[in-house]
Amino acid sequence: MIQAKGIYARIGSIEVLSQVDLHVARGEMLAVIGANGAGKTSLLRTLSNIIIPEKGEIHFDGKPTRGKQAHELARMGLVHVPQGRQIIPNLSVRDNLLLGTHYLNLPADEKSARLEKEFERFPVLKAREGISGGALSGGEQQMLAVSRGLMMGPKVLMLDEPSLGLAPKIVHLILQTLNELKAEGLSVILVEQAAVLALEYSDRGLVLRNGKVVVESDSVSLRNSQALVDGYLT
Ligand SMILES: Nc1ncnc2c1ncn2[C@@H]1O[C@H](COP(=O)(O)OP(=O)(O)O)[C@@H](O)[C@H]1O
Ligand SMILES: [Mg+2]
Repeated sequence: MIQAKGIYARIGSIEVLSQVDLHVARGEMLAVIGANGAGKTSLLRTLSNIIIPEKGEIHFDGKPTRGKQAHELARMGLVHVPQGRQIIPNLSVRDNLLLGTHYLNLPADEKSARLEKEFERFPVLKAREGISGGALSGGEQQMLAVSRGLMMGPKVLMLDEPSLGLAPKIVHLILQTLNELKAEGLSVILVEQAAVLALEYSDRGLVLRNGKVVVESDSVSLRNSQALVDGYLT
């Protein structure tokens, strides 16, 4: 679903990504782990063309992403749930969810069907549907952000640090939900500083350090590599 080869990207004079290769299959969850400042957010922003890569090629669902804007890619199914959730605090939960479908030109009954599906998936959002997004707890806001992403009908869902500041129980619920969606063909890129957690749910992981991929392997091997945990993740 995603194939990136030889990606270089910079922000001002800082090279944030250097020679990054990455691939994610249909129905696969890839964890991207690394310390603060490693380049994880920059990687997701580059895959979305928010940062335009200096060099390298990215294909999404078999098509080159070059020249496409982030919102076009999102409409095609490359959906990004940014770090810090970025829900709209003064809109209701329901309207935050409907925002996810705003640019998709869906018929009204399809929008309602998707909304009902999200309410089934996350009953707490149904219970809060009329409340403003800003009044939700941090965990509920993260569910809302993920759910809004799912409203877009993603082929690839990219999540930036969903665990940040949240109780483990809620994070497990969210990741378990996404895990189940893999069976329907959803691919996930899970960016996390919480490496052990991310490797628990993902199929494969790659470790970023100073904008470079230092290790890539299946998640079970990475989890069992104490040298890796000591060397790169702390
Ligand atoms: N807007 C920005 N302006 C300048 N430097 C930035 C900006 N965003 C990120 N950086 C730098 O780019 C590098 C990678 O950051 P980032 O991708 O946010 O890492 P991570 O998400 O892994 O914490 C860091 O050195 C960071 O300081
Ligand atoms: Mg980040």
